[in-house]
Amino acid sequence: MSPPQEPLSLESYQSIQSSPVDDFKLNDLIKSIHGVLGDDGLDAEHIDAQKIIELMERYSSNSVDWNKYTLFDHSRAYTRNLVDDGNGKFNLMILAWSKGQQSPIHDHSGSHCVMKILDGKLQETQYHWPSSADTDSVETVGDITDASASSSSTTHQGKPLAVSNNTVYHPNQVTYVHDNIGLHRISNPSQHTGAVSLHLYTPPYKMCKTFEEKTGRARSSGICSFYSVGGNRIQEDNK
Ligand code: SIN
Repeated sequence: MSPPQEPLSLESYQSIQSSPVDDFKLNDLIKSIHGVLGDDGLDAEHIDAQKIIELMERYSSNSVDWNKYTLFDHSRAYTRNLVDDGNGKFNLMILAWSKGQQSPIHDHSGSHCVMKILDGKLQETQYHWPSSADTDSVETVGDITDASASSSSTTHQGKPLAVSNNTVYHPNQVTYVHDNIGLHRISNPSQHTGAVSLHLYTPPYKMCKTFEEKTGRARSSGICSFYSVGGNRIQEDNK
């Protein structure tokens, strides 16, 4: 039996260099991810996270493949659009970022997160975990894509989160994050154009912690719902 796979470190991730291949379409990527993850999901001991990253790198972004899943909404922080539910073992989704939109700072509930830029530019700011006991979240409020989810409280005392990395990614670049690496925020730095990204989470998760930048407090558990499934907008009360 092979030893358990550790979550990748940023260093080991950065050593991976593979080029997109033109005849490898989004459907091929989805089939290949199913093939690699099988019935187990990426936490299973014989699964290698690097294989998923390499597959994501192999896919060359083509809007013909993903346009139908890409629903923008200027009134939200961004939108999460489910492409494939991975038979419960992973979620593959498209996130649509209007100009200037950003996620709150958040963790990934122990899941592996692989992100590929499909269009535009996206900035990933990684943060160290706060050192205090402030990570014990008590509230459960709001959807992670609510535009108000990034706002800060004025009453809580604490140390600001420390930035560990700040990187701007361009189309076809892939990055990886896990709670062992830290927290992150994704933002579209453009004030003029939208951006689109493809995210794979395994195992899938429905809740994560969100953090205040100024105080490090985990102020709530963000509910990670979908804006659309298979290209169809879902009703608010079905989220
Ligand atoms: C999200 O999944 O809603 C945020 C983006 C990310 O974690 O990469």
